[in-house]
Formats: sequence, C-alpha cells, structure tokens
Amino acid sequence: MTAPKTVNTDMNESSQRVVIFDTTLRDGEQSPGASMTLDEKLRVAEVLEALGVDVIEAGFPIASNGDFESVHEVAKASDSAVICGLARASEKDIDRAVEALKPARRGRVHTFISTSPLHMKYKLQMDPEDVHQAVIDSVTYARNRIDDVQWSPEDGTRTEHDFLCRCVESAIKAGATTINIPDTVGYATPDEFHALIAMLLNRVPNADKAVFSTHCHNDLGLAVANSLAGVQAGARQIECTINGLGERAGNAALEEVVMAIRTRNDRLPFDVGINTEQIMRASHLVSTVTGFQVQNNKAIVGANAFAHESGIHQDGMLKNAGTYEIMTPESVGVNRSSLVMGKHSGRHAFKVKLKELGYDLGDNAIQDAFRRFKDLADRKKDVYDEDIIALVDDEVVRHNDVIKLSDLEIVIHAGQMQKARLTLNVEGEEKTAEAEGNGSVDACFRAIRKIFPHDAELQLYQVHAVTEGTDAQAEVTVRLSEDGKSVNGEGADTDTLVASCRAYVHALNKLLVKREKEAPSALSA
Ligand code: KIV
Ligand code: ZN
Repeated sequence: MTAPKTVNTDMNESSQRVVIFDTTLRDGEQSPGASMTLDEKLRVAEVLEALGVDVIEAGFPIASNGDFESVHEVAKASDSAVICGLARASEKDIDRAVEALKPARRGRVHTFISTSPLHMKYKLQMDPEDVHQAVIDSVTYARNRIDDVQWSPEDGTRTEHDFLCRCVESAIKAGATTINIPDTVGYATPDEFHALIAMLLNRVPNADKAVFSTHCHNDLGLAVANSLAGVQAGARQIECTINGLGERAGNAALEEVVMAIRTRNDRLPFDVGINTEQIMRASHLVSTVTGFQVQNNKAIVGANAFAHESGIHQDGMLKNAGTYEIMTPESVGVNRSSLVMGKHSGRHAFKVKLKELGYDLGDNAIQDAFRRFKDLADRKKDVYDEDIIALVDDEVVRHNDVIKLSDLEIVIHAGQMQKARLTLNVEGEEKTAEAEGNGSVDACFRAIRKIFPHDAELQLYQVHAVTEGTDAQAEVTVRLSEDGKSVNGEGADTDTLVASCRAYVHALNKLLVKREKEAPSALSA
C-alpha cells in the first residue's frame, strides 16, 4: 500500500483522524420517498451532532425553497458540526449556498461538476477545457465568499486520470481545502479505489494542501469497503449516511464504517470522533422520519445484528460473549436487557429512561411523552426501550401535522366488506367519514380519501413489529406518490389499523408540506 503524503485536516488532532461527513440530509434525502420535513431534518441534525459527526451536509440550497430553509435552519441550530451546503459549479448555486449557511458557526460550500468523459459529453455537453475552467471559476468564486470549500469531480472513478489530476490540482490552487472523490455510480472495486486515491496523493503536486475524501455509492454493495480502502490509501474524510440511505442502493453506511474502524482498529488504525452509543438512536430516528425500515440482518443496526438464535451459539454466548460477538450491543446503543417499565413506573423513572436513551426533551415534551407512555403501558404489559424510542420518535415526526387522526371504529363481519368510521382533525376541524373496503386497511384509507380528497397513489404499505408478542407496537410505513414525487409516512401503535391510519395521514401531511415548499425548478445532484 502507498503511504499517504502529509494529510492536512483542519479538525484533526493526529494524521490518523478521519473526518466523518454525514450526507443523510442531502444525498440520503435524494432516495425516492425519503423526503423529510424541516422539523424532521432539525431533529436528525440534532441527533447527528449528539453522535459527534464532524460535518453535516444539510442540503442543496438552490434545489428548492424547502432545501434552502432547511440548510439555513440547521446552520442556525447547530453548535458543534461544520454545516455544509451543496452547489453546482455556478455563481447562482454558490451564492444561494453561502446565503443559506450564513448563520453557521462554521459553514462549508461543497461545489461539484462532472469530470468523466460520459458525463461531460452527455450530461453537461461541455468539452474538458470548459469543465476545467469551470472548476477554477467555481472554486475561486466560492473561496472568495467562504473559507471552507470542498470540491468534487462527479463520476470521479470513471474520469481519466490525467484530467482528474489536472482538475484536482486546479481546485486546490483555487482554494479548495477538501477534495472529495465520488464513486457516483458505485462502480469501483476496493483495490481500484485504493489505487485511485493513492495515485492522486502521489501525482497531484499540491495534494498535501487538502484533505482527500471518499463518497462511495453502494450499487455493487462495495460502498463501505471502498470507503475504507480510500482511507487506507490516505483519504481522511468519509462521506456517509445513517442506515446507508442515499440515491439508488445508497451510500456508505456511517454505522458500518465507524464500527469497522473501532472494532478492527488493529487493521484500520484510524480515529473517528463518533459517540457510537448514539448509533441506534440515530438509525431509528432516520428510519422513522424517512419511512425506510432497516432490514433485520443489516450490519450494526438490524434487529438481528446481536440476536443469537441457534442453541450452539446461545450456549457459547453464555460461557463467553466473545465467542459470537465481535462488538457489544451496548457499544452501539442497544441495551442487552431492554425490559424497562410498566404501568406503575413513575414520571421520574421515565425521565431518567429518556435521558439514558439519549433524549434531551424540554418539560412540555416530557409531559406529552409521559402521557403517551402511560397510555401505552395501560395497553401493553411490558414496555421496552424500543417501545419508548418508537413512541417518542413517532411524536417527533407528526409535531407540526395539520391533519391528525382523532378516532377510528372498524366493523368486521366474516365474509363481508369491512367498514371504517374515521374522524380526522383537519386544521382544527373534526371531520368524519365512513367507507367500506376490501379489508380493514382499505376501508380506513378510503375513509381518509373521502375526508381529504387527493390524487396521490399508494405505492407501499408495510408493517413491522417493534418488539415481540401479540401486544407489540406495530410500525407501519406508507408511501404515497403524487406528480412523480413520493413521500413515506410512519405510524406506530399497538393497534395495527391505528398505526396504518397514522402512517397514511403522516404521508399526506408530508405531501402538503412538499407542495407548499418546493419551487417548480426543484432538482437533485
Ligand atoms: O454521488 C455523487 O457524485 C454526489 C456528488 C454531488 C458528490 O453525490
Ligand atoms: Zn452521491
């Protein structure tokens, strides 16, 4: 392996420090259906800061008014991370990003342009000389407006090496302090990505003046391996997302790169500033607000990641946990014994539990959460950590909803159509409708449509149990699509039908916000 030249990272105590750049709110949000409301983004940003990420890419300010506002508000609210806004190689984009980042304690503009022959010819319809000039112009323009500028050659892994070196050198000369190398289409293999980063560090004469970064997509399932190979070659920033969310097959999963570095520090001797005990909380929140459920066997954060089913494994675990566990569940925020409370638990114990789970709620929010906890404990004998997380996150996502489920009655007679009588509170006004359907869920959704007519199509309906047992809370995801745009809604309740209605209504609320906030020229990177 090629040793890196001196690597200069701003926030770095040692040359082995790897900057964790989270792009859940930008690249992650670009996954179809993963859009988040402003409140949800603020909540995710808060959890990312608690997790200790170094940089939060909060959005693409020119893309829509909603994106601008969210970058601006995240910049206002953040107090530890660098807040980053994405911009194409254009003055308008950069101005908008700089404007959105104004309240940030430390802001970064991330500007990019495609450099591969394929992208330059078909996507940009520009020749390489013009692209090279655009790199110089855009980075210079950005650097005259903000100190921290990151530059990316989009489709970097399919770019000709000589041209890539030339563009990187010019970007650094023009003032870029971070050079991010995207594997935009998830095409690279680990050895190839390692060689690419090593080649740049060796060939670009001013490479020591910038931090090199990885941005790997997961189309071949290699995003994490590629990111780690990049770091082994000398990159000192990894761009990643919670749960690996992102365009198509997603990005490198933050929890995987971080836990690989922590667990295999013998082979990956790098430092990251992540509070790994916050990983599960971040994973659950992102899953709730986006409606992208985490697969059971997902590394680190899947429901089965620390489950031991076979008798031989259980026996080994009882004798010594190290037999089948390479990291402890506690290290990523999963409590081994998560049975917590029941209906006799008091407010103080509940408050302590919320703190232990990483929630720092104000008095009113605690009061609300406690009321809902009591309500749940009346219906469910054992309340687990997962139940409390679902309950608090569920409330977070519907904080500003203008349509809310007030009441639901279902009539079922075997062999007949099911009937739903449903009441919604629409901007303070109670409205009731009855509908019949092919099954109870269908009847509920038809009743919602009667009260609040809309053309959105139901694209996905998915249920999963938060814990075990027939009294477990159901977590439901509903995906609605309108005018080519889709949103996911989430709902949790011990009753699957109530959870389903809450999920549908949540998705409707998101569609309303989307209609209101999105400028007609919305675009994505
Ligand atoms: O995948 C990609 O190339 C990107 C760039 C905007 C960095 O997301
Ligand atoms: Zn990307």
